[in-house]
Amino acid sequence: MSDVPATTNGTAVGDWATDFDVLDPAYVDDPFTIWDELRKSCPVAHTDRRGSTWLPTRYDDVVDLAHDIEHFSSTEVAVIPFEDARRDDPVLQYGLPPISSDPPVHTWTRRLLLPWFSHRRVEGYEPMTRALCAELVDGLVAQGSADAAREYAQQIPVRVIASILGVPSELSDTFTSWVRDVLEFADDPPRRQKGIEGVIGYFMAEVAKRKVDPGDDLLSGLIHSDVDGAPVEDGVVLGVAALVLIAGVDTTWSAIGSSLWHLATHPEDRVRLATDPEAMPLAIEELLRAYSPVTMARVVTEDIEFDGCPMRAGDRVLMNFPAANRDPEAFDRPDEVVLDRQLNRHVAFGSGIHRCAGSNLARMELRVALEEWLRRIPDFSLAEGAEVTWAGGQVRGPRQLPVVFG
Ligand code: HEM
Repeated sequence: MSDVPATTNGTAVGDWATDFDVLDPAYVDDPFTIWDELRKSCPVAHTDRRGSTWLPTRYDDVVDLAHDIEHFSSTEVAVIPFEDARRDDPVLQYGLPPISSDPPVHTWTRRLLLPWFSHRRVEGYEPMTRALCAELVDGLVAQGSADAAREYAQQIPVRVIASILGVPSELSDTFTSWVRDVLEFADDPPRRQKGIEGVIGYFMAEVAKRKVDPGDDLLSGLIHSDVDGAPVEDGVVLGVAALVLIAGVDTTWSAIGSSLWHLATHPEDRVRLATDPEAMPLAIEELLRAYSPVTMARVVTEDIEFDGCPMRAGDRVLMNFPAANRDPEAFDRPDEVVLDRQLNRHVAFGSGIHRCAGSNLARMELRVALEEWLRRIPDFSLAEGAEVTWAGGQVRGPRQLPVVFG
């Protein structure tokens, strides 16, 4: 099976306003100039590829859409739609809640999950994350060079999530390949199906084990919690656990990878972060804004005109959080990374009721990953002739990032 993500199932894009394709190599490589053009000419673009789909590019539009949960449902959040309707799945009758549900299911499933990612809990995960990053960096320093995406960024979130869920870290590579099958190779239905089945099959067996032998992990916590006095159904436990894995791995690894790419290509920012630890908190927010990895989808519930666009029930809308974060109406010098940007109301973690439940964890992982890297490898740059490859679609980030150490 190829390790290169499927790119597009159609022909090359001629007109981005009426026929866009988020898997087109030009879009994956540099979506920024395409969004800039669209914001001026057609701020909500359209395509009929993979069904009638809209692509907003302005900050205000994306935020308005995220808040209008009545007309824009979360029952289909995959950027590349599933060919078969997951709603009919006998195991995942609730999909992957809370991300794929609307209220009322969204409300109580999100409540089940939030305590696991509170500030206090995340502080508790920090020493383990730091030890993991330090160990990875130790292994790389002597090499003098590394693939910062594959050998570092990709290794971190999956291990942190595995430990929170209570599964052995030896399974990290298997988990990574399942998550990539679901998100990165979504244009290849059998491969996506294989990823989903891998994740669900694994958690089904683990749920059965933890019913008789619970631990203090997230999976056990979900199984043994109740909602209004009733135990949580297995389908919900499986959906929530699968979501935590799928939402918490590619996303954060992409954010870490993009940030390292930025530092490898912008020496002044690298030196600043390596020498001034106090710059880190604002820098993290700025890197998340500039290289927002995640785009989501919504499905239109009834015919509606949005910003002059005649949307029909069943159409899909891509929640283009990354483009919103580059809108000049919302951010001064949006295409520049301003490490100490003060006013930064970015929507990298979404907006409204579905705002990322794991944002505390994601921020901690990104900060610790950069701190530990810069502590041992303060001087690094792209390897000469380096071929950097990017994944796109639902989650954008570097998948190959060869760097050399100074
Ligand atoms: C830099 C890393 C991350 C980014 C950029 C990110 C981004 C997002 C975005 C944009 C949403 C909103 C989805 C929507 O509106 O449909 C979201 C939701 C969510 N994220 Fe994250 N995420 C990241 C890391 C994580 C991590 C580490 C977890 C940990 C488990 C996580 C768990 C979730 C969950 C459970 C939701 C669904 C919340 C709901 O529907 O109420 N994410 N994330």
